Amino acid sequence: MPKPIRKAVFPVAGLGTRFLPATKAVPKELLPVVDRPLIDYAVREAAEAGVTRVIFVTSGRDAALRRHYRPDTELEKTLESRGKVAERDRLAAIVPEGVQLEFADQPVPLGLGHAVRCAREHVGDEPFAVLLPDDLVQAEPGCLAQMFGRYRETGGNLLAAETIPPDRTDRYGILDVGAGGMVPGGLADVRGLVEKPPPAAAPSTLAVVGRYILQPEIFAALDGVAPGAGGEIQLTDAIAALIGRQPVSCFRFEGVRFDCGDRQGWLMANVAFALDRPDFDGIGDELRALLETAGRRNQIGGAE
Ligand code: G1P
Repeated sequence: MPKPIRKAVFPVAGLGTRFLPATKAVPKELLPVVDRPLIDYAVREAAEAGVTRVIFVTSGRDAALRRHYRPDTELEKTLESRGKVAERDRLAAIVPEGVQLEFADQPVPLGLGHAVRCAREHVGDEPFAVLLPDDLVQAEPGCLAQMFGRYRETGGNLLAAETIPPDRTDRYGILDVGAGGMVPGGLADVRGLVEKPPPAAAPSTLAVVGRYILQPEIFAALDGVAPGAGGEIQLTDAIAALIGRQPVSCFRFEGVRFDCGDRQGWLMANVAFALDRPDFDGIGDELRALLETAGRRNQIGGAE
């Protein structure tokens, strides 16, 4: 049985261009989904799976991220003096218990593969996880915990996957797993994968979701890949280079993924997570009513 994975890499050096001007001063990963920054969901998902070392790969624009994770005893005291104990406790628990945070620098934005390579010294010679916080997965247990469970059987490299509409292959890494689709909870051997192919060239409609378990040999593979799609060093290309040398499998997790790198996906995540919050009773009802009214209005508008 492979050793448990303790380290997770979070590439967070992106510019968030699709969300400008919202992301001019606030990094994309700190945009809220309901009342937590996007990044917190991924960090909690990793902690739930047993990760104890979180490695953020950041650019120079990481002051807000560091501030978010730094304890703020002044603010905690102020909340306490105002009787806001629950709020104080939520603040004090931003970093999950037993989790240590580290920062690795990505001096120039040369792509996801490059970002992962920048975490090499922090990861060392052991298997690790990569989480792309843009991909928010609503699942119980979390997506990474599900993957860790299956990794005990597969070992090697394991990628999360889901089927996407055929016209969206040029947004994702696309997998070749031979014939047949994948059911939730299913595993498959990966025969090939290609980054953001146009629909006509895509080997399937099975896309990589931003959760990976990787072996340390990925670093040597990353050293060997030339710039690929978009002129960037692609993680996809390095994983493809490992096929035949190590097991590479994919896993159709159980749950719903929201692509929060996209405005629509982010809005949908906010609605889905708000509706799923027991402490939002009442607000949830009002939100539901609003969605129904807006839906009806759009239908009427669309018919005109
Ligand atoms: C990255 C990966 C891609 C993967 C996607 C998942 O793309 O390169 O293979 O399918 O994340 O969200 P990006 O979103 O950085 O363009």
